[in-house]
Amino acid sequence: MMNTPSLLVLAGDGIGPEVMDQVKRIITWYGDKRDLTFDVSDDLVGGAAYDVHGTPLHDDTMAKAQEVDAVLLGAVGGPKYDVLDFNEKPERGLLRLRKEMDLFANLRPAQCFDALAEFSSLKKEIVSGLDIMIVRELTSGSYFGEPRGIFVEDGQRVGINTQRYTEAEIDRVARSAFELARKRNNRVCSMEKANVMESGVLWREVVTEVHKADYADVELSHMYADNGAMQLVRDPKQFDVIVTDNLFGDILSDCAAMLTGSLGMLPSASLGAPMENGRPKAMYEPVHGSAPDIMGKAMANPSACVLSFAMALRYSFDQGEEATRLEKAVEAVLAKGIRTADLMQADGGKPVSTSEMGDAILAELEASL
Ligand code: IPM
Ligand code: MG
Repeated sequence: MMNTPSLLVLAGDGIGPEVMDQVKRIITWYGDKRDLTFDVSDDLVGGAAYDVHGTPLHDDTMAKAQEVDAVLLGAVGGPKYDVLDFNEKPERGLLRLRKEMDLFANLRPAQCFDALAEFSSLKKEIVSGLDIMIVRELTSGSYFGEPRGIFVEDGQRVGINTQRYTEAEIDRVARSAFELARKRNNRVCSMEKANVMESGVLWREVVTEVHKADYADVELSHMYADNGAMQLVRDPKQFDVIVTDNLFGDILSDCAAMLTGSLGMLPSASLGAPMENGRPKAMYEPVHGSAPDIMGKAMANPSACVLSFAMALRYSFDQGEEATRLEKAVEAVLAKGIRTADLMQADGGKPVSTSEMGDAILAELEASL
């Protein structure tokens, strides 16, 4: 690589720092063994930032995030922060990063590793071999639309959020989905509620126009998002790439995550427009949250965070082969029956700790050389 790529690590709250520690060991391994050195810096986000700075994301941290080649984020939130004002809550830090970095395409791959097919709440034949990619729009829609707030009207409170999408916002995320589909099984299913929402009508129109103009070689279908949720649990393997808005994408990706056996397995990449160096603005984070119930118990599964770093290797640093090496290492660990507690069956033996899972992944990386 031309010059040492920079990574900003924002481990955040709850189990975030615990799982990120394992990723840091893997980053060090890549420097030592694969000549892939990263310039890593750490900073605070979420409740951890609030505790020190009184805000879930300091302006200096935001500025750093804009400068680096990629951000690695752990998790934000926890019961301790429930009492904070809405604008000071840990989640606001994460949402600010997404919005100001303009990370409009959130890639959430739901893959069911063979070793975990038994573990899904669905029947093995429904999920084994599952490999779908949810592309969630991440910077607009009801998460950010104005007007928003709690107002008083006619003597009672009214809570308002606005679902709002411009053509340009739909166009760019649709393109991301079509591009990804071309590298996979060439199928995109777009999900909205065009039967009840004008924003859904426009969504369907724009996706159809983009398809017709530039991606006619990709197979496109449309589905109402409620039906999509049902189809995801009825027959998830019918899908290749799903593209959907911010709120539907939030819900549908949690649903898809559980198909794979555990929320502890699902990585994500949030990508924006290319920077001057050609790399996309990018942040990588596990889909799971801060899991305050298991924090500090060395129980957390670091796989989703590790697999998020694999996505960074692939999407930010053009190291597809090294990304595959890391994914295969995680898969090999699971195939050996090495499991953290979230992946344990009743008779499954003794779960390993977070750092033992890290040890096992590192051992597989070594064995791959
Ligand atoms: C996610 C999370 C976030 C979201 C929260 C933590 C703000 O659920 O990334 O899916 O709602 O987008
Ligand atoms: Mg979510």
